[in-house]
Amino acid sequence: MLNMTELYYFSPTGGTKMSAEIFCEGISKSVKTMDLGSRDKAVEKPTGELAVVAVPVFGGRIPSVAAERLNELEGNGRKAVTLVVYGNRAYEDALLELNNVVKERGFQVAASAALVAQHSMIPEVGKGRPDDRDRKSILAFAGKVLEKMESGSDVSVKVPGNDPYKDGMNMPVTPISLSSCNRCGKCTSVCPTGAIRLESSTPVTDTEKCILCMACVSACPEQARILPPPLKEKMEQMLGALKSVRRENEYFL
Ligand SMILES: Cc1cc2nc3c(=O)[nH]c(=O)nc-3n(C[C@H](O)[C@H](O)[C@H](O)COP(=O)(O)O)c2cc1C
Ligand code: SF4
Ligand code: SF4
Repeated sequence: MLNMTELYYFSPTGGTKMSAEIFCEGISKSVKTMDLGSRDKAVEKPTGELAVVAVPVFGGRIPSVAAERLNELEGNGRKAVTLVVYGNRAYEDALLELNNVVKERGFQVAASAALVAQHSMIPEVGKGRPDDRDRKSILAFAGKVLEKMESGSDVSVKVPGNDPYKDGMNMPVTPISLSSCNRCGKCTSVCPTGAIRLESSTPVTDTEKCILCMACVSACPEQARILPPPLKEKMEQMLGALKSVRRENEYFL
């Protein structure tokens, strides 16, 4: 076991963090977590033996805000494990993109994985993931990564994906607030892009800034923040068939 890993994560609704923490539990005695979605803190530089970098998949890519925050890091030759977490549809170019970003920052990517978590827009897709079966397989992967690190092997990993990457998502839609909103301001504070402001105590969302990450929907204590019903319906149509499908995690060493 390593003594400590530094976990850099972007996790608007918690699935990415949950999956990455299982991996960290399997590889080190303690974990220092750094939230790439937090607007009020600069990203702390890595100092330890291993950095774990975990981000969700948005439209087959990594979220732009996570890529921007990762650009603040300096790896200085340190080892990194990269994890993309996706909602049981597909991860497409996201893992390749993440590895390229992390390598450009001076890290050596020792291992990578594409892990499944519940879909943050349609929770019945990938429902309950990561589950016990995921947990066992993620912990087994962590054991293999540890062995690879201890053997001193520096074989770099090859992951699927195309470069140039597919076009990023561009949906000019944002979540909306219902009349049951009590104007608590929680959504404004959790938004990783600062897209929500309270105007006359009512949440107003900037379409240009919103990346549809679902953090505000997940954090609203009144369940008053929702996807606009036409978008929800469209997503249901696109993803509904995946409710009865189980994609498995993929590991690259
Ligand atoms: C805007 C957006 C785009 C997404 N795109 C994909 C995708 O392309 N493929 C996929 O399988 N899941 C996709 N998902 C689902 C998330 O990748 C998945 O739910 C992930 O666990 C979310 O991470 P979080 O719980 O840390 O926020 C998307 C979710 C959102 C909000
Ligand atoms: S978190 Fe929910 S209740 Fe609070 S201001 Fe935002 S929408 Fe309203
Ligand atoms: S307003 Fe958009 S970017 Fe901000 S938390 Fe909500 S979904 Fe995410």
